[in-house]
Amino acid sequence: MYSPLPQNPVRAVGRRAVSPPLASLILFLMLIALPGGKAPAETGKKPDPHAALRGAKLYKNFCQSCHGKRGVGETVYPWNVGKPGYFPAPALDDSQHAWHHSDEDLAKFIREGSPRTPRMPAWKKNLSEQNIRDIVAYMKSLWGNRALECQGPKHMSCM
Ligand code: HEC
Repeated sequence: MYSPLPQNPVRAVGRRAVSPPLASLILFLMLIALPGGKAPAETGKKPDPHAALRGAKLYKNFCQSCHGKRGVGETVYPWNVGKPGYFPAPALDDSQHAWHHSDEDLAKFIREGSPRTPRMPAWKKNLSEQNIRDIVAYMKSLWGNRALECQGPKHMSCM
């Protein structure tokens, strides 16, 4: 590879402002402090449109095959009904009860999977925490105002 300088001049005189290990430590701290440090306490609020857009792509790749286009839920065929251990993938728009869960609970369900069926696996193997938050944002972009306002534990008193 062509390099115009035979040697890094700063390095040559030994005056680096920040040593590489320190630089990576700072970068690491910034990374955990930025998206991860922010609590997902957006329950009841409109999602960030940029996050929802990122989530839409992930949803198409990872979730749509079961949960349907725009979260309408799985088409349940009669031959599957009553099969032992068969659970259909519920709607994730506001037509069922996805909005009864807080952001945290939705993220946890996606992260850990369903305790009832391996059909809904633990996505933490394939998706980062940020990916999961983005998908939750996408799901919420499919909800109307009432579902958004009544999201989570307060849905009971909101009916
Ligand atoms: C192979 C099919 C399949 C795929 C792919 C899948 N799911 Fe599921 N999902 C299910 C099933 C089945 C359930 C119901 C589990 C149960 O009843 O315990 C479920 C349940 C859920 C629930 C709980 C909904 C509620 O109202 O309680 C959420 C949230 C969810 N899935 C999100 C996702 C997301 C996000 C993805 C993509 C990253 C995804 N799922 C991919 C099958 C799937």
